[in-house]
Amino acid sequence: MTSPHPVIDHPEVPAALAEIINALSTAAIDVNAIIGHGPLGQTLGAQVGENTDGDTQKALDVQADEMFAHALGQTDVRWYASEEQDIALELNPGGACAVAIDPLDGSSNIDVNVSIGTIFSIFDAKDDAGASFLRPASEQLAGGYVIYGPHCALVVTFGNGVLMFVLDRDSGRFELAAPELHIPEKTSEFAINASNRRHWQAPVRAYIDTCLAGADGPRGRDFNMRWVGSLVAETHRILSRGGVFLYPGDARKGYAQGRLRMVYECAPIAFLAEQAGGLATDGSKPIMSHKAPDLHARIPLVFGSAEEVREVERAHADDTKALEA
Ligand code: AHG
Ligand code: MN
Ligand code: MN
Repeated sequence: MTSPHPVIDHPEVPAALAEIINALSTAAIDVNAIIGHGPLGQTLGAQVGENTDGDTQKALDVQADEMFAHALGQTDVRWYASEEQDIALELNPGGACAVAIDPLDGSSNIDVNVSIGTIFSIFDAKDDAGASFLRPASEQLAGGYVIYGPHCALVVTFGNGVLMFVLDRDSGRFELAAPELHIPEKTSEFAINASNRRHWQAPVRAYIDTCLAGADGPRGRDFNMRWVGSLVAETHRILSRGGVFLYPGDARKGYAQGRLRMVYECAPIAFLAEQAGGLATDGSKPIMSHKAPDLHARIPLVFGSAEEVREVERAHADDTKALEA
């Protein structure tokens, strides 16, 4: 155990995973404290390198990765796959679990005091790292995130609904704040980086155009738009009040499959979305039915309120039909 006193201790957390969740939570409390010092503390947003995909690495990306790897090294985790590591690390050869992690999501928001987070996915460990992570997302044992925002929260699913714990700053423990998060079926709020509109494929453009047409268009109501630039913050908003999020593939070089990574971003977010009564798709297939071809593979992600995710899928199906006609 990373801490003699579990910072998260609740019957809803399955015993087999409690040690791992406790280690993740303990490290997250330390990451939260570092972020909370802002510019009075360490330099967090300085570029220190590049990861395997050529994304810039900020000081906090690297530090958070080291902190989570260290915390999980003291638990039953065999394989550790991180956005910040080219290949999976073997932490404990006898460990029963495999953890994939985006140690710091929303790097571009580090220095601007906007919510950022950590995303994680837990599988049972197989004898090699590939077999542990490159498998259908539906085989996850747990998926979740920590959001470092005005308050720090841990949101997690073990395949039986979505729980939210909030960090009590006085006790230093995560307390259960919501035993069952639910994404409303209907929403009038979408999230997409609209600066990429000219690069989108026809179905995404068609869907967003119907939203933008508002009450005068086919949807017959006005839509609102949000784009934070931190997947964790968008997910938290959608789990709190509904909405639909899109990071589609587009025509930019390297963006055919969008930007977000299947193993440690899309799979756990899709697990949460479905467990909260929402949906998650690549446009035509559920994310939960996909398995990644490699550790850092990307996949288009659309998730959130069921009615809107179905609308996006309909736009893709209509486009396919039109091409076939
Ligand atoms: P990360 O900081 O882990 O690289 O992830 C950033 C991701 C995600 O959080 C966000 O939804 C998306 O990148 C923002 O992308 P754009 O800058 O293209 O809008
Ligand atoms: Mn990320
Ligand atoms: Mn990241």
